[in-house]
Amino acid sequence: MATQNSNPRSERGVEDPIIEMRGASVTYDEGESYVLDDVSLDIGRGEIVGIIGESGSGKSMLASSMLDAIPDPGLLTGGIRYNPPDDEPIEILDLDKEGIRELRWEHVSMVFQGAMSSFNPTMKIRGHFAETLDAHDADRTAGMERARELLSDLYLDPDRVLDSYPHELSGGMTQRALIALSLVLDPDLLVMDEPTAALDLLMQRSILQLLGGLREKYDLTMVFITHDLPLVAALADRLAVMYAFKLVEIADTREMIENGGHPYTRALLNSTPNLDAPLEEMRPIDGKSPAPINLPSGCAYHPRCPLATEQCREEVPGYHEGVGGAWRGVFPPRRGDQRNSAELRRLAR
Ligand SMILES: Nc1ncnc2c1ncn2[C@@H]1O[C@H](COP(=O)(O)OP(=O)(O)O)[C@@H](O)[C@H]1O
Ligand code: SF4
Ligand SMILES: [Mg+2]
Repeated sequence: MATQNSNPRSERGVEDPIIEMRGASVTYDEGESYVLDDVSLDIGRGEIVGIIGESGSGKSMLASSMLDAIPDPGLLTGGIRYNPPDDEPIEILDLDKEGIRELRWEHVSMVFQGAMSSFNPTMKIRGHFAETLDAHDADRTAGMERARELLSDLYLDPDRVLDSYPHELSGGMTQRALIALSLVLDPDLLVMDEPTAALDLLMQRSILQLLGGLREKYDLTMVFITHDLPLVAALADRLAVMYAFKLVEIADTREMIENGGHPYTRALLNSTPNLDAPLEEMRPIDGKSPAPINLPSGCAYHPRCPLATEQCREEVPGYHEGVGGAWRGVFPPRRGDQRNSAELRRLAR
C-alpha cells in the first residue's frame, strides 16, 4: 500500500522501498527518441511487482535499467537508488564498473528475456554455477550447497541437473535452473523479464507458484515482466502498466483489475481471455503500439483511445496519486467497461 514517505525523492513512494526510480529515461539516437520515458517507480521490499504492456512498450528497458544494463549504445539517465537492507543507499547510475559488477547477482539479479539460450551449450549446468560463484569470489562449497537447495526448491533433482548439459534439459527445467542460478549469490531483488514466455501454460503456472514459495523462503523482492496479464495477476502484489515507453498506471493488483483507471489498462483488461465470458465480449485492442520514432503528439495513446479529445492530441496528460497508490490518469474509471475481469479477479489474491 502506498504511503507518503519522508524521503523527498519519494513523494509517490512506498514504505521501505528497495528500489527508487526517478525520471528514468533511455534514448538511443542522441536524445531524438525515447525507448524509456521519464519513469518513476518504487519497488517495496518484499513485494512482487508485475510490469505489463504490449510488445515494444519499453518493459525490457525498464527492467534492464534497474541494473544499469541497457544494451549499448543506449543512454540511461535519471535517478535509480538501491536501498540495501542494512547499509547506505546506493545510486546505481553513479557506480563504477566494479560497483556494477558487485551489484548484479549479489544484490539485484536478473533473468533476461530469452536467457534460456544463454547457457553455454558446451558446459554442464554445474560449470555455470561454479563460474558465477568464482566470478564473485564466493565460497564454492557453500555456494554449491545453496545451488542444490535452490534446485530442490524448484522441484529439480540437483544431481541430475548439475551433471547435465543444457540441451539435456527440457524448457521448463532449463528455465528453473536459470532462476536457481540467478539466486545463487543471495540477491535481495530478482528481476525477471518474460521468464516463462517460451513455456507451455501448465509449466508457466507451476513456475509462478514456485516463485511465490521462493519469495517467502528467501525474503525476496521480485519484478516480473510479461505481456500475459492473467499469468502475473496470480502472483503480483501490484501491477504497473506501460504504454509507449511510459508507465501509465500502477496499483495494487486487485485494485487495478477492478478499477483500472487508464483507458489503455481497461483495453488490456477487456482483451484478456476469460473462460467464463462469451467470446463476443472479448475485445482485442485496435491499432498498433507506436514505435519510438514519430510518436503521436500529446497522449501517445490518443489514436487508439475511445475517449480521446482534441486536448489529448495536443497535451501530454498529467497523473496524480489516487487511493491505494494508483497513479490515475486524467479520466475516472468506468467500471461497467471491464466485462472480462471476472477471471482475473479470481486469479488475483
Ligand atoms: N538495442 C536497441 N537499440 C535501439 N532500440 C532498441 C533496442 N532494443 C530495443 N529497442 C527499442 O526500444 C523499444 C522498447 O523495447 P523493449 O523495452 O525491448 O520493449 P518490450 O520489452 O516492452 O517488448 C522498442 O521500440 C525497441 O524497438
Ligand atoms: S489522455 Fe486522452 S487519449 Fe490519452 S488515455 Fe487519456 S483519454 Fe485517452
Ligand atoms: Mg521485452
